[in-house]
Amino acid sequence: MGSERAVAVFGAYGHTGRFVVAHLRERGFIPVLAGRDPGKLQTLAASAPGLDARPASAGDPDSLDRALAGTAAVINCAGPFATTAAPVIEAALRAGIPYVDVTGEIESGVDTFADFTDRARAAGAVIVPAMAFYGGLGDLLITAAMGDWTAADEAHIAYGLSSWHPTAGTRATSKVSRQRRGGRRIRYADGQLEYRDDASPTLHWPFPDPIGPHAVIGEFTTVDVVTVPSHLSIPHVHTHMTVEAAREVLAPDTPTPAVTDAHGRSAQTFLVDALVRRDGTERRAVARGRDIYAVTAPLAVEAVHRILTGRTRATGVTSAGKIFDAPDFLHALSPHISVDLH
Ligand SMILES: NC(=O)c1ccc[n+]([C@@H]2O[C@H](COP(=O)([O-])OP(=O)(O)OC[C@H]3O[C@@H](n4cnc5c(N)ncnc54)[C@H](OP(=O)(O)O)[C@@H]3O)[C@@H](O)[C@H]2O)c1
Repeated sequence: MGSERAVAVFGAYGHTGRFVVAHLRERGFIPVLAGRDPGKLQTLAASAPGLDARPASAGDPDSLDRALAGTAAVINCAGPFATTAAPVIEAALRAGIPYVDVTGEIESGVDTFADFTDRARAAGAVIVPAMAFYGGLGDLLITAAMGDWTAADEAHIAYGLSSWHPTAGTRATSKVSRQRRGGRRIRYADGQLEYRDDASPTLHWPFPDPIGPHAVIGEFTTVDVVTVPSHLSIPHVHTHMTVEAAREVLAPDTPTPAVTDAHGRSAQTFLVDALVRRDGTERRAVARGRDIYAVTAPLAVEAVHRILTGRTRATGVTSAGKIFDAPDFLHALSPHISVDLH
């Protein structure tokens, strides 16, 4: 274990990486900037005093070892994670430090659980994939909504985004995922991932205020279908997306997010409505906030903070809902995310 406060960020100069670096600094951590482009790293390092830039590439294990040397944890923000997750996890295991990533890729999340569960458990290591808006927040909300239930019939996470202007990383990641599933769509039903050739249904989802009932693309499947079933006994986990946001993220000419405030956030707002159903009874948790990329930073950094201070309930490859006290974690996200637990 290295310096208690030093946290490596791989992909530090990406859109999400920058939010994570800034948030680490706000929380008193010392971000160690890592990534494959030395020039972009240097530019970011020059933006604030005391930032250490360490060029590293996913294909060069020695460079990753140098990037992680002396750090207490690593947050991987470099996607597509199909390429970066495994090499950075290997480096974290060699360094003996926890690994957190922000993948939104279903297949990358599946691979991390499949490929590292046994080794991580044997080593007592902590590996948390998808500790982000997609994957982490939904899992925390579903886990909190479950309360004392140990099983449910179905879970739904409806994403009410006011807009979705994707970054280059989101587009690259979507492309890789599409290729990996041969152009088919994916959903989680009857306790397993299912590849399908039919079109996603359009549904009406009863969002709470301020959205209200609204059309969504049903089974617009996110990495929550990896994190939630990894620890909760729920055979059907479905995620839905407001039609306008789904249309925007898929359109080739939608611009990247525009900065609209001093924190670098866009004007995008979100409402995440998480619902579990058992024997006809529903339980719900709702989160509201601004900018899905910006809000990923407090999620990932709070996770690292809790791991480093021992506020955890699991080791091995694990999801947010399993390793953390979900209601307590969600409340700690204020003022970045406001949460209603019903
Ligand atoms: N789950 C979620 O809710 C969530 C939230 C936010 C972001 N994400 C994911 O995080 C990733 C980054 O998103 P972003 O918005 O930050 O995109 P971005 O601004 O385009 O940044 C992508 C970053 O990844 C780096 N990168 C890409 N491929 C790499 C490779 N093979 N080796 C090393 N570095 C590599 C890029 O470096 P170069 O500039 O050198 O290419 C850049 O630093 C995406 O996969 C996105 O889906 C997920």
